[in-house]
Amino acid sequence: MNLAYARGPRLDLRPIDAADAPLFVRWLNDPDVTQYLARTLPLTLEEESGLLKARAGDKDNVILVMVVRDGNVPIGSAGLHHISGPDRRGIFGIQIGEPSYWNRGFGSEATELMLEIAFERLNLNRVELSVYDTNARALRVYERAGYRAEGVSRQARFLGGRYVDVRQMAILAEEWRMRKSLVAAGEVCQT
Ligand SMILES: CC(C)(COP(=O)(O)OP(=O)(O)OC[C@H]1O[C@@H](n2cnc3c(N)ncnc32)[C@H](O)[C@@H]1OP(=O)(O)O)[C@@H](O)C(=O)NCCC(=O)NCCS
Repeated sequence: MNLAYARGPRLDLRPIDAADAPLFVRWLNDPDVTQYLARTLPLTLEEESGLLKARAGDKDNVILVMVVRDGNVPIGSAGLHHISGPDRRGIFGIQIGEPSYWNRGFGSEATELMLEIAFERLNLNRVELSVYDTNARALRVYERAGYRAEGVSRQARFLGGRYVDVRQMAILAEEWRMRKSLVAAGEVCQT
């Protein structure tokens, strides 16, 4: 059975299943991964199973598992969080929990797919995110997708024994549509 909610060239994005809990526990306890994420405390299987149960039917958070179609390998998740009805905005988050899949273009593909979901399917007007100043890989991915810098929260995150700045970025539906039409016309390179 194909459970994909969205499909890219190499990735399926599918809904989370209760059986994914052990995967998330492994990903979200790995310090190589969590150094870039808001989560600091250890995550237990019990807590994650409870979170997944509580999220069943949740319409304010759309969280999808990234699955590499070749081999059907789940590698991480991408989500639109705290979707606000009146403002039509949401907060983007992504984590590839399998570091061996970093730097292979999957994050960029999922980021593009999530913007398409946000603007073409959920009718959001704005998607925003926070990223640590130290996360050059993520910054590259977000800039390439069209996110614009909006500000910096100085020393907002304590990481590896020191404070780092947190950058705020966002993209509006009109900017995304404009960029999409320029890419289609060959006037802007997608890379
Ligand atoms: C951030 C993340 C989603 C990016 O996904 P990815 O699949 O690794 O990224 P991609 O391969 O699509 O693109 C990475 C880009 O960053 C570039 N890059 C990698 N390391 C870099 C560095 N130290 N400095 C600058 N650019 C760097 C790569 O060269 C690539 O750019 P290119 O395609 O122009 O060559 C993924 O690495 C991840 O989940 N990391 C851990 C959790 C995390 O950081 N989540 C985001 C929190 S805001």
